Amino acid sequence: MPESLASLTQSRRVLITVGAGGVGKTTSAAALAVAAARAGRRVLCLTIDPARRLAESLGIASMDTSGHVVDPAIFAAAGFPMKGALTAMMLDTKRTFDELVIKYSSTKEKAERLLGNKLYKYVSTSLAGTQEYMAMEKLVAVKDDPKYDLIILDTPPTANALDFLDAPERLMGALDSTAMKWFIQAFESSGKLSLNLLARSAALVLRGIGKITGGGFLEAMAEFITELNDLFGGFKERATMVQKALRAPDVSFVLVTSPAPMSIQEVLFFSDRLAEHKMPRGAFVVNRFRLPPARAVEGVTVAQAREALAKRGIALEEEGAERIVRAHQDQVRLAQLDALHVRGLAGKAKAGDVPIVRVPELATDVHDVRLLAEVGEILMTGGV
Ligand SMILES: Nc1ncnc2c1ncn2[C@@H]1O[C@H](COP(=O)(O)OP(=O)(O)OP(=O)(O)O)[C@@H](O)[C@H]1O
Ligand SMILES: [Mg+2]
Repeated sequence: MPESLASLTQSRRVLITVGAGGVGKTTSAAALAVAAARAGRRVLCLTIDPARRLAESLGIASMDTSGHVVDPAIFAAAGFPMKGALTAMMLDTKRTFDELVIKYSSTKEKAERLLGNKLYKYVSTSLAGTQEYMAMEKLVAVKDDPKYDLIILDTPPTANALDFLDAPERLMGALDSTAMKWFIQAFESSGKLSLNLLARSAALVLRGIGKITGGGFLEAMAEFITELNDLFGGFKERATMVQKALRAPDVSFVLVTSPAPMSIQEVLFFSDRLAEHKMPRGAFVVNRFRLPPARAVEGVTVAQAREALAKRGIALEEEGAERIVRAHQDQVRLAQLDALHVRGLAGKAKAGDVPIVRVPELATDVHDVRLLAEVGEILMTGGV
């Protein structure tokens, strides 16, 4: 018998929503957080860039990186009283990186020099993997906070969900690369960039870069890398901690996908990678699943539709009836397709004891407390 999401929110300390861009990771994370808080847990929802309307409806209009306790009255007023508590915290990549720099720099001056470096801003926000890495970093920072029973971590909108798992290694790899080592060698002994100290081939490469990038770039880069190197030991230790934290038995991944084959393919790939890494899959969420119309009739003709409507006192022109029939049939067909794709997922996922929870496509975006609580309820009760 698969363990339900309701049970996972009780038995686990950390749930992480992952999946391709735009499939509903943030929505699922927030909805699960609301549902678990309603059930009595003290929940921290670590989220990235929620839609503004949704954040506003929870009373968190500004970027709140230190944690904002959502007023339980908001939920009570919407008819969803909360037995537990909900804190929302926004992830801010640059700020998390800054905090790491301050923590691991050997002196305050070194930290300040690094934070002020021209290249720092770029690297701390745009280097591949930093966003994903900092999400996990924040998780480690709050994981043992006794204020919370459950932490739900939303992950960044990566084009490729796999980026998330590889982030610590990639980031560390980039910082530990051969080119970085050349820079450090060329800079360290004199405190100025001196390519003469390098092997000829390395010096040639750096000179080549210097020619392309123009005046001052190499120097800024060398200074930056040398200063970053001061932090390297600390960073590496931290990355190991992050890796370990993700593999703890109280962590579980919620794999979010849309019913589209591309998205399912990606989530399957991710699921295999989790299995490879021996990281537990908690549930698949198939979001925006299209249900058949309430009274689905396959192959209905325009004449039959007009007749049925006439019986209910609705007279329709041929053209109007045709449009309704077409819309009806489209909806039937789309629902069939989605059901087919989800069956494919179930077949290929070797899901075994991992539930597949279907959340229907709603008529509007999930932009307020009521809709969020409704999606939460659907998730907790096993989907449609
Ligand atoms: N079941 C649903 N029915 C209707 N709209 C939905 C549903 N789930 C999510 N949405 C809407 O889809 C949009 C994208 O959802 P969301 O932001 O949760 O995706 P995401 O995976 O976090 O995206 P990103 O990868 O950009 O972070 C939002 O506007 C959200 O309100
Ligand atoms: Mg998101």
